[in-house]
Amino acid sequence: MNRPATPPLAEPSGWHDVRLTVNGTEVAAQVESRLLLGDLLRDRLGLTGTHLGCEHGVCGACTVLVDGEPVRACLTLAVQCDGADLRTVESLAPGDAPLTGVQRAFHECHGMQCGFCTPGFVMTATALTERADRPSDAEVADALSGHLCRCTGYRNIRRAVRQALDERFGE
Ligand code: FES
Ligand code: FES
Repeated sequence: MNRPATPPLAEPSGWHDVRLTVNGTEVAAQVESRLLLGDLLRDRLGLTGTHLGCEHGVCGACTVLVDGEPVRACLTLAVQCDGADLRTVESLAPGDAPLTGVQRAFHECHGMQCGFCTPGFVMTATALTERADRPSDAEVADALSGHLCRCTGYRNIRRAVRQALDERFGE
C-alpha cells in the first residue's frame, strides 16, 4: 500500500523581535526561533550566573524565574519569553545591596560546595519564599528534586532552604 508522503518539516529558522524585562531592565532583542533562553541570557546579555549543565532539562542548574515561576532556561526558547518578566541570580543583591534571606541562608548553612548548581537552587528557593503561603515539606522536597548537585550537598542545601523559609514565614 502506498503511504502518503510525509510532509516536510516546517523550516525552523526565522527571526523574531522580543521584548522582555530582565532583572528589572527592559530588553529588546532580535532572536532566532531556535535560540534558547539560557543562550540569550549568557551569550547575548552576559548574565553568566545562569549555569548550563546538562542542557536537557535534568540538572536544574539553569533555573531562572519567568513571571515568578522557576523555569529551565535550557528547555525554554527565548521567543517564548516575549513580554515576560525574567529574573536571574544576578537580580538578587545586586551591587552592594544586602544578601536576600535565601542567599544568606545558603551562605550560613554552607548550602553549596563547588557552587555550580547553586544559582538554580537559589532561584527555586527564592520562588518558594515568595509564595503567599508557606510551602509544605512535600512541596519543598518536590521543588528541590528538580535539581542535581554533584557534590552531594543536599543536606546543607535543605537546611538552607528550611532556614530561609523559617525566616520568611516564621518557624
Ligand atoms: S542545564 Fe538546564 S536542566 Fe540542566
Ligand atoms: S555544589 Fe557542586 S554541583 Fe552542586
